[in-house]
Amino acid sequence: MKFFVDTADIDEIKELAATGLLDGVTTNPSLIAKSGKEFIPLIKEICDVVDGPVSAEVAATDYATMRKEAEVLRKIADHVAVKVPLTPDGLKVCKELSDEGTMVNVTLCFSPAQALLAAKAGAAFISPFVGRLDDISSDGLSLIGDIVTIYDNYPDFHTEVLVASVRSPMHIVESAKMGADVMTGPASVIKQLYNHPLTDKGLAAFVEDWKKTGQSIL
Ligand code: E4P
Repeated sequence: MKFFVDTADIDEIKELAATGLLDGVTTNPSLIAKSGKEFIPLIKEICDVVDGPVSAEVAATDYATMRKEAEVLRKIADHVAVKVPLTPDGLKVCKELSDEGTMVNVTLCFSPAQALLAAKAGAAFISPFVGRLDDISSDGLSLIGDIVTIYDNYPDFHTEVLVASVRSPMHIVESAKMGADVMTGPASVIKQLYNHPLTDKGLAAFVEDWKKTGQSIL
């Protein structure tokens, strides 16, 4: 499973990139607003730090303007994935860009039917939002299972399932069990994956016992 971080905070991105475990970055207009930085230079800065796909989202919702914005975004770097909303106009842009060899991340997916359309439009990534479905008492993870099942039925689909709106380590673990290709989540949730109380307890005991030996490896 590939790990993308869902943030526009360059310091967080640098910190995670230094672990060697980060495969890409996703951003959205809300995250850009939160960063308080200029959009295009920020995406460029992120692309200089991370070699994998960096999602940059169009701001418009009509076909013509989205298409123009996509031209600007894809020129930033070859590993920019242009992010478009799951709408008829968004998928039209997706089909054109994908046919031209540009990675497209289709965002705001909440149903298997929508995911089917995105795959037919040639998206590199489909982003089903598990957390936001859970928020309205729907089962976000079952959507991931449905999409993985559908895509597996059609080997000519090359769209990767990018689990988005991740809120907890279990969203990641359960999605991995279902075979989702990628997850994107806040840095805080990715860091939680390291944690287990028995690791802390066991390590503390090993450190204490090692002291008793009076030895040094170096
Ligand atoms: C995905 O690409 C989105 O940026 C993101 O995962 C949305 O997450 P949220 O529901 O926590 O805002």
